[in-house]
Amino acid sequence: MNYENILISIEEKIATITINRPTKLNALNKKTINDLQKAFKLLAKNNDVRVIVLTGSGEKAFVAGADISEFANYSIEEGTALAAEGQEKLFDFIENLKKPVIAAVNGFALGGGLELAMACHFRIASDNAKMGLPEVTLGLIPGYGGTQRLPQLIGKGRAMEMIMTAGMINAEEAKQYGLVNHVVPQAELITYCNGIAEKIIKNAPYAISKAIKAINANYKDGKNGFETEIKSFGKCFGTKDFIEGTTAFLEKRKAEFTGK
Ligand code: COA
Repeated sequence: MNYENILISIEEKIATITINRPTKLNALNKKTINDLQKAFKLLAKNNDVRVIVLTGSGEKAFVAGADISEFANYSIEEGTALAAEGQEKLFDFIENLKKPVIAAVNGFALGGGLELAMACHFRIASDNAKMGLPEVTLGLIPGYGGTQRLPQLIGKGRAMEMIMTAGMINAEEAKQYGLVNHVVPQAELITYCNGIAEKIIKNAPYAISKAIKAINANYKDGKNGFETEIKSFGKCFGTKDFIEGTTAFLEKRKAEFTGK
């Protein structure tokens, strides 16, 4: 598959997607969004991939937002469609992916960039990272899920303040808020994310996918997270990996999971 604005590498079951428009601080234009949609769809089906790490190229930005030049003269209908399509095809798709997606936030994550990082299952930041939702400075509000996911992650009051002031927070503040899980020197960011990915890969893939589903259920309208958990828990008992995991424990050896 040929991509214009992203790079993909796959090693040891970890796929790394790098958004590659460094001269525009990796801003999300239509082509980049299309590339990302295609890539996530393919990686979701690729049996050689167990965890996906998403990052930006260069030392300055993860993603500095949606590409402002592309929507500057949009109408109400076009603006509505931009948000609806983006949310459905990319941001919600990532959030609901059955494989863990880690955002390696290597610099500015602003607007659509922070929204993209928030759609990932969790975030690790480099020490130079800066995060914010500055849409109100453009006469807009966040449109790729930011008004929903930011309060889920950091609480309503802090999200209100960040969105209304359009302020940026640094990596340490983001960690204190619970927006990112860890802060590491920039040069160590990908290695650090890969280390976490390796720990995940040792565990049962089906169980991981069900954990994602059950955790996400808490944030979905009309879903009862506890019920989703009960059903998902039950289904795990029908897998070979459950037999392998429990047998390995009782035999005092390491489990070899196959994903079945
Ligand atoms: N959309 C389109 N282009 C963008 C962009 C965006 N969201 N963010 C950065 N760029 C482009 C700049 O226009 C510039 O392009 P040019 O060299 O062709 O003029 C290039 O990326 C570098 O950005 P620049 O502003 O010169 O870098 P800086 O270090 O002075 O400032 C930022 C960095 C992130 C503070 C600044 O780029 C910025 O505020 N970007 C917009 C952030 C935003 O509002 N995002 C939300 C969008 S919904």
